[in-house]
Amino acid sequence: MTSVCPSLISPDVTTQSQVSNSPLKLGIMASGNGSNFEAVAQAIENGQLNAQIQVLIYNNPDAYVAVRALKWKIKAVFINHRHYKQREELDKQIVQTLHSYDVEWVIMAGWMRLVTQVLIDAFPQKIINIHPSLLPSFKGVRAVEQAIKAGVKITGCTVHLVSLEMDSGRILMQAAVPVLAEDNPDTLHARIQAQEHRILPCAIALAASGGCGECGECGRCGR
Ligand code: GAR
Repeated sequence: MTSVCPSLISPDVTTQSQVSNSPLKLGIMASGNGSNFEAVAQAIENGQLNAQIQVLIYNNPDAYVAVRALKWKIKAVFINHRHYKQREELDKQIVQTLHSYDVEWVIMAGWMRLVTQVLIDAFPQKIINIHPSLLPSFKGVRAVEQAIKAGVKITGCTVHLVSLEMDSGRILMQAAVPVLAEDNPDTLHARIQAQEHRILPCAIALAASGGCGECGECGRCGR
């Protein structure tokens, strides 16, 4: 991690909160396995990301991410989307929960629900998503299968700020992954996930530092 993401430990590229020594307060939203949740927890534990996970919100009762939260002693709140008729009502409940845990940054780490303006307005420019493709290619579900089906030779993963449109918003960081002839969705996804675990903590630090990685104006992008 340290060798591939030097910006996290470089004294001149730190998050604003790191400058003031107060950790970023993260709320993580996840629907399933939670390997990205754990990658963020591990980066914090390793001292590579100055943050703390205030709360995990998950929406499937048997999501393995809840087991991981228990292991890391992180408070986990189950919000069952099936109990809400409108997506806005679900998002209101999510916002209320995130506020009650004093969350500043929202990280969607395998959150498989569309968001509404309710959530976006509550955390403007502070919601981050990870997606298993090089956006804008292969948005939506089964992005890895889509890439194999399209016959691309390179795919990867993207961390981006969340906007209303699905899998859209300003791109913070991407990693490329070659598609091998013998790949199936599982083998390719495993290699993509290795890259996701590497770039998600980096992108959180980058976003919180105000650096977009590409504008050339913020002074933190290193370009
Ligand atoms: C990740 O590959 C993430 O990119 C993807 O779900 C997986 C969650 O894995 N997200 C999306 O497809 C969002 N459109 P994890 O539960 O092991 O972190």
